[in-house]
Amino acid sequence: MLVAPSLLSANFANLQADFEILNSSNADYLHVDVMDGVFVPNISIGFPVIKAIQRLARKPLDVHMMIVEPQKYISQVRDCGAEIMNVHFEACTHLNRVVHEIKEAGMKAGVTLNPATPVFMLEDIISELDLVLIMSVNPGFGGQAFIENSLNKVSRLRRLIEASGSHALIEVDGGVNEMTGAALSKAGADILVAGSYVFKAPDPMKAIDTLKSL
Ligand code: DX5
Ligand code: ZN
Repeated sequence: MLVAPSLLSANFANLQADFEILNSSNADYLHVDVMDGVFVPNISIGFPVIKAIQRLARKPLDVHMMIVEPQKYISQVRDCGAEIMNVHFEACTHLNRVVHEIKEAGMKAGVTLNPATPVFMLEDIISELDLVLIMSVNPGFGGQAFIENSLNKVSRLRRLIEASGSHALIEVDGGVNEMTGAALSKAGADILVAGSYVFKAPDPMKAIDTLKSL
């Protein structure tokens, strides 16, 4: 299992300390949540902070854009050194174009689905995606309870990926812990995002290893 700790639950008053843990941990990515107060009812961080994160992080950045019109910021996300740029299906009128622009900018293209958006909406784009991010909470806040139906969505997405011959990875974000993570692993997830489970743990490195072993 690949693991992407979400910085949203880190200590923003002392990011350096959390980076010392993350950099020496077995985490595979660093998940960075960008919120605009329009697409989701919260505002998080923007490019000046992500640039600082880029300097501190020795893990590839997985940037989750919870904003309207994410296509406007592709080159800025690239300039922050992101390996993966995740845009919401619900925020893109011309998703095909956005996916191609992300790839042309040299990043892996990820498409994120809100809890109420069905997996079949990706049928005609799945073969072009590097990753699909299934939201297992309504985006905007850390520490929310896992929505159980996400397990069905991951299984359905796994079947869609296999049927289409796509190489897309399945990432899941929201309410991930040891229990929900184990169920997600069974359902076919490749990458688990975890915020509060990692950063509120007495030993974050151990929490990352627990998820990795699922
Ligand atoms: C929520 C964010 C998540 C958040 C997850 O909208 O996209 O990445 O940090 O937090 P937990 O793991 O606490 O649910
Ligand atoms: Zn996220």
